[in-house]
Amino acid sequence: MRRKIVAGNWKMNGSRALVKQLMAPVGSELAALDNGVGVVIIPPALYVADVLESAVPGVEVGVQNIARWNSGAYTGEISGAMARDSGCGYVLVGHSERRQLFDETDEQIAAKVGQALDSGLTAILCVGETLAQRNAGTAEHVVAGQLRAGLVNVGDNQWPGIVVAYEPVWAIGTGETATAEDAQAMHAAIRNELEKLGAPADELSLLYGGSVKADNAAALFAQQDIDGGLIGGASLKAEEFMSICRAVPGSY
Ligand code: PGA
Repeated sequence: MRRKIVAGNWKMNGSRALVKQLMAPVGSELAALDNGVGVVIIPPALYVADVLESAVPGVEVGVQNIARWNSGAYTGEISGAMARDSGCGYVLVGHSERRQLFDETDEQIAAKVGQALDSGLTAILCVGETLAQRNAGTAEHVVAGQLRAGLVNVGDNQWPGIVVAYEPVWAIGTGETATAEDAQAMHAAIRNELEKLGAPADELSLLYGGSVKADNAAALFAQQDIDGGLIGGASLKAEEFMSICRAVPGSY
């Protein structure tokens, strides 16, 4: 049975005051959620302790990035083991902003996935095509390549530590969303590719990300191969984020 997950990626936003403001309604509303959704909060690393301290039962916490090494003279970096030691269960790997703005390569992404798994974190591997690639008809080819490259270090028994987030680059922070049908088609292609890689594809959670809002979440989450969402901007608004969590099927 694959897990339904809604993860909030705060990116480089927030403050200690905002943690308190956001986590209070998440806590009170989460208790009333009966759809079995796993809620993951992914704040800037400095606020992980604050989010954990807000002690909302059932909420898991992640970091947005880890180093591709496990320890040593890498000034400014944070290891997967440190994230785990600090109470995190998840890490985003290969977000398009890291690929584009920080020139992260497939090799680096694969190394980070390996570090995440070795540290006991679940890696949320982000994949997605640009608008030019979609218009050129190469979207599935690009995404399949990102999957093959990013997951090359995953051992046979490590697949339960992998979640894939499909985030078309043109839909991130733009207000543009893939149609539910297009998103479903890509998710089915991703599952197919995972199968080819030897993964227990039917058991892995696949999330959709890119301008998910309260008013488009239900249509996306109703699709057969979409197991939840990776939410950016809308995760910074408590009510909107909780509406998205409620939109997971099985909800009241
Ligand atoms: P968005 O971001 O929801 O603001 O489009 C999604 C993401 O980048 O994870």
